Parts: sequence; C-alpha cells; structure tokens
Amino acid sequence: MITLALSKGRIFEETLPMLAAAGIEVTEDPEKSRKLILATSQPGVRVVLVRASDVPTYVQWGGADLGVTGFDTLLEHGSAGLYLPLDLKIAACRMSVAARADFDYASAVRQGARLKVATKFVGIARDFFATKGVHVDLIKLYGSMELAPLTGLADAIVDIVSTGNTLRANHLVEVEPIMDISARLVVNQAALKLKREPIRRIIDAFAATVSASQPSEAATPAASQ
Ligand code: PRP
Repeated sequence: MITLALSKGRIFEETLPMLAAAGIEVTEDPEKSRKLILATSQPGVRVVLVRASDVPTYVQWGGADLGVTGFDTLLEHGSAGLYLPLDLKIAACRMSVAARADFDYASAVRQGARLKVATKFVGIARDFFATKGVHVDLIKLYGSMELAPLTGLADAIVDIVSTGNTLRANHLVEVEPIMDISARLVVNQAALKLKREPIRRIIDAFAATVSASQPSEAATPAASQ
C-alpha cells in the first residue's frame, strides 16, 4: 500500500491532475465527507488528509510514504529523513514582511530599531532578519497574523501573500518580500527504498505534469537515491 498525505484545499485540488497523470483518481470528495482516509482508483494507493503543517511529520515518521507540502511548512519543519525530489510549482505564493501603511519599516530597519514581528513562521522570520542584521522580538501566532499590527501587538508580520486581498482588507502593505513559495513533493527515504517502483512511478508522473505546465523550464527529478 502506498499512502499519500495531502491537506484539504488548494494543495489537494492542485495535486489531483498530477495524480491523474499517474493513473490515480481519488474516488471520494473530501469536501463532502468527514473521512480522513480516501480510497483511489488504484487499490494499492490511498490518500490521507492531514493538517498542512503535519504533512512533513507524517512522511518523516512513515505515517505516509509521500506527501505534498508548502515550502514554507517544510522550512519550518526541517527536512531530516525526507527525500525532496520535486518542486511541484503549485499553490504558488510568497512569504513577505507586511506592516501598517503608516509604519515606516524602511527607516526603522535603517536606524537599527528593534522590531516586534508576529508570525506563524518563526524559523523563516528568524533566519531572514538575522541575515539582514535586524534585531527582532518574534511573537509566535497560530493564525490571523494581520491583526497583530492593527492592535499594537507587533510592528510587522511575516506571512504568506497570495492575491494580497487579506492584506488590503486589513489596511496592511507588503514592505519586503522574503521568498517565493510553492508546494514540494516529500518522500519518506525508507519507503523509497522498500517501495521503490510504485513511488518512482508517482514521482515520474508528477515530474511529467510539472514539465508540461512549465514548457520553458523543464522539471528534472533529482537523482535516484
Ligand atoms: C494565508 C495567509 C493570509 C492569506 C493570504 O492564510 O496567512 O492570511 O492566506 O492570502 P491572500 O493574499 O490571497 O489574501 P490561509 O488562508 O492559508 O489560512 P491560515 O490563517 O491558516 O494561515
């Protein structure tokens, strides 16, 4: 049995065509049921639905053989024990610093001020500001980061920006991009050895889908391990 860990929403939706390329059709709709294990058209392949931030954990510890997770989640979790063969180029967004429009972020940084930064992505934020040489007090939040500058909890936030609608709706502006983010395929290294052929088939089908959608930039699977 091959177990693939996915999170509901964009990652699930955007992974479906890649699974289809591997001849795998998910036969149940996660939006219409509370089931956490979904069967597929291939009796030897199943999908488990986990929280986005838990995908690397499931794959690392063998609760799933492979999974699809955002690069942001992977950076926060670390990639020990994981084989990362592919950037799937789906669920694209960016990680940015945002602040209230009336907060002069550039001057604060230039003057060496100590910034209060609220974020769910403490590891990414710590590395980013350390590289810039900016002193920060990091405040860990689990959601609704946009509220932090509005309530005086923080001077700025580090968060994901996709359309920019959430920032605009809360009168915040993006003051500095940190990195582009997209979803990665993660594979349990032991599973890759034990179930090499079926996992390779899935990796190759995913790689072919990525290549087809990015004609100018061929996706090359990393060398076999
Ligand atoms: C993310 C992020 C922003 C929003 C940005 O939250 O934290 O709030 O998306 O998207 P936009 O630029 O298109 O408005 P998400 O919906 O993933 O939920 P979360 O609160 O669990 O992070």
